[in-house]
Amino acid sequence: MKPLFKGKHFITLEDWKKTEIDKLLEVSVDLKKKFYNNEDTDFLHNKTAFLMFFEQSTRTRNSMEAGIAQLGGHANFLDTSTMQISHGESAKDTAVILSSYGHGIACRNCFWEIGNQFLNDMAKHSTVPIMNLQCDLYHPMQGLADLMTIKEFHPQTKKLKVSIIWAYATSHKKPISVPLTQILLFPRYGMDVTLAYPKGYDMPDWAVEKARKNALENGGSFTITHNMEEAYQNADIVIPKNWGSWVNNQSDAVVDDLLESYKSWKCTEEMISIANPNVHYMHALPADRGNEVVDSVIDGKHSIVYQEAENRLHTAKAVMAMTIGNK
Ligand code: CP
Repeated sequence: MKPLFKGKHFITLEDWKKTEIDKLLEVSVDLKKKFYNNEDTDFLHNKTAFLMFFEQSTRTRNSMEAGIAQLGGHANFLDTSTMQISHGESAKDTAVILSSYGHGIACRNCFWEIGNQFLNDMAKHSTVPIMNLQCDLYHPMQGLADLMTIKEFHPQTKKLKVSIIWAYATSHKKPISVPLTQILLFPRYGMDVTLAYPKGYDMPDWAVEKARKNALENGGSFTITHNMEEAYQNADIVIPKNWGSWVNNQSDAVVDDLLESYKSWKCTEEMISIANPNVHYMHALPADRGNEVVDSVIDGKHSIVYQEAENRLHTAKAVMAMTIGNK
């Protein structure tokens, strides 16, 4: 397998042409098939990637770590609280040093107005690709897996009604990077994307403008509503998920009066019943069960959350094989 995008950073899918994303998807499908057939996929033989995490992770860490092992390479997991970064070492020095030891650097840093800057600072000084494992603005690994999953269930994505819907949760003040990635990516595939949220949970203006532009250029549409029911009506795919009010309020507090006033923004059987009868329910996970969604929906016949999570492995492998591969 030729590493067609060798050395290319994977910080946001906005930096990747549609043809390049299509190639990543094609490779993901091929690697999934090979994984199921137990075929050898030694495309990263003797390669090393460093996985730096400022925050917790289940899917992202393990899909990357398992993925590189299955490709014949090795991942160093780095909890940044045990690195000299925690004593103030710079992104530049970290990137220069790690890139002299291996072949790829991946990082999760979701701190508001810090994470994306940190990744770009590393990219400026790294001689190997920087992979974004989620920052304050983007989660491209998740976006790619979401797109792969949507295409598995709906090979024709044009005019698919996809609703990204804010949901109530108290587990932590979550980044906006998952919905922001989705509103930018899905209109590029001609989907009719609706973003629904209660006032106070806005996306940045530049992201809304870019989502509209992506829709216009690719035959999709992008609509914002503050009416939850409207978003569920006739939807083919619903993605109810919490995100924090970071754009309007930079406090780290998880629960506040604004959040508590929107407890009713929950994915219930009643909401699912007003969507398309064959609607699919998606969520990047972890879900705040009982708050964002009732068990009967996430565990029910409409849910494809486990397929979506599984595809994180295959898409992560495709990104690594194509950007740091050696064959
Ligand atoms: N969806 C996602 O990124 O999951 P983790 O936080 O467990 O990595």
